[in-house]
Amino acid sequence: MTDSCTQRTIQFSPPDITEAEIEAVADALRSGWITTGPKTKELEEKLCAVTHADGLACVSSATTALEIALRILGIGPGDEVITSAYTYTASASCIAHTGATIVLCDTLPGGYEMDYSSLPELITEKTKAIIPVDIAGRMCDYDRLRNMLIMMKGLYTPSTPYQKAFDRIPIIADAAHSLGASYHGKPSGSVADFTCFSFHAVKNFTTAEGGALAWKHVSTAPERPAIFMQGPGAEAPTGNFDDAAYYKEVMLQSLHGQSKDALAKNQAGSWEYDIIFPGYKCNMTDIQAALGLVQLERYPALLKRRYEIIERYERGLDELPVSYLKHVGNWAESSGHLMLVRINGAQEAYRNRVIELMASYGIATNVHYKPLPLLTAYKNLGFDIANYQNAYHQYENEITLPLHTLLSDDDVDYVIDCFARALKQADEENIPRTITTRERNDKRLQAYVDRMDKEGGWKDPAAFRGFEED
Ligand SMILES: Cc1ncc(COP(=O)(O)O)c(C=O)c1O
Repeated sequence: MTDSCTQRTIQFSPPDITEAEIEAVADALRSGWITTGPKTKELEEKLCAVTHADGLACVSSATTALEIALRILGIGPGDEVITSAYTYTASASCIAHTGATIVLCDTLPGGYEMDYSSLPELITEKTKAIIPVDIAGRMCDYDRLRNMLIMMKGLYTPSTPYQKAFDRIPIIADAAHSLGASYHGKPSGSVADFTCFSFHAVKNFTTAEGGALAWKHVSTAPERPAIFMQGPGAEAPTGNFDDAAYYKEVMLQSLHGQSKDALAKNQAGSWEYDIIFPGYKCNMTDIQAALGLVQLERYPALLKRRYEIIERYERGLDELPVSYLKHVGNWAESSGHLMLVRINGAQEAYRNRVIELMASYGIATNVHYKPLPLLTAYKNLGFDIANYQNAYHQYENEITLPLHTLLSDDDVDYVIDCFARALKQADEENIPRTITTRERNDKRLQAYVDRMDKEGGWKDPAAFRGFEED
């Protein structure tokens, strides 16, 4: 361990922007066309090619991509959509926005992805979509999920044309983290029925804010109804999934339900348009796309650097009492988005102390994620963390270390050294590290969590020990 734990400032995830991005944005500003236009279309084509999707449309965020995917399927009040309890709010809030009911799935024991084996308990005749989450850029086990949905297809009750394009519950991947990842050699974007990417400022690939909705014909249906541009609720003729029509539907959904985009309306004499339904406004601008086009060129090199950093972290972390999410497995290679680490046997008090100590060494860390049932909005919807024990245990000792392409090798070594030092100090402070199985399964866990929430973080180890003895 070095003695240099006060010498650096390590940000959590600053954007990696070069002069090339700055020039491209300046060129877009000078071009005379700054909203959705040729650069957005070029980015869509290039992203569609690299993700091997059947079609792709850029929008303002992953959140809007998720919501549009649900809306085009015609999902709304009376329907249910399942997502993971262990995710960012966007995976679930998009469901609430449509008026459908959120159903949360616990994680696999000791894992970050949803527990596919619990789906039979959660799927009903009202279930209209599943939103798995590719946490940290590692894709979910889509074959396992799809097989589970095929087994359960007797319960699938499609009622809109887009729903009838599937013979089982459709899968909408929350791929906010997974652009550049692959599953059995297939890139994210070509594995789920719908894939929603985020290009937010902290993501591997950024357009400052932005996202994309990609789709792929992976249904097991022998014949799929054609989908025409008639808005949700239209009757479905039989035929094949129509990519051009679906693309137009995304454009309508992201631009007021307006029949012409700004570029088309801008052509001389082409002023007239119709509003087909009162839609949202969440299109991508050409300024953002200009940034994205340069990021896309740089992306292979950025991913390579992420992998070098991950390998360096792994070598250092192997010496410590921690475990970490593997970014490469037999069937998957992630986009290396987040360095998720779990401190063996620790609870929140210990993990939170380590975060404070890391901050005192100048290192910003994070937690991915506080499970949704611990957040006020989801508590108010009736979710109870006692029913999501696996998610809670993933969260209670998780700490996310900085992982971005502005880190030097020395920075990574510094983070590892400081992390080791923080763990040692937390041990010396006697912050308890283990919790018994009985306590884990006990309803009192909820009382503890509520109390901790009220106090804004568990700071007093003695009080925690008191709870253990109850
Ligand atoms: C798992 C997950 N899903 C969805 C989102 C939403 O992405 P966006 O900010 O592009 O809407 C995020 C953003 O951080 C995320 O982490």
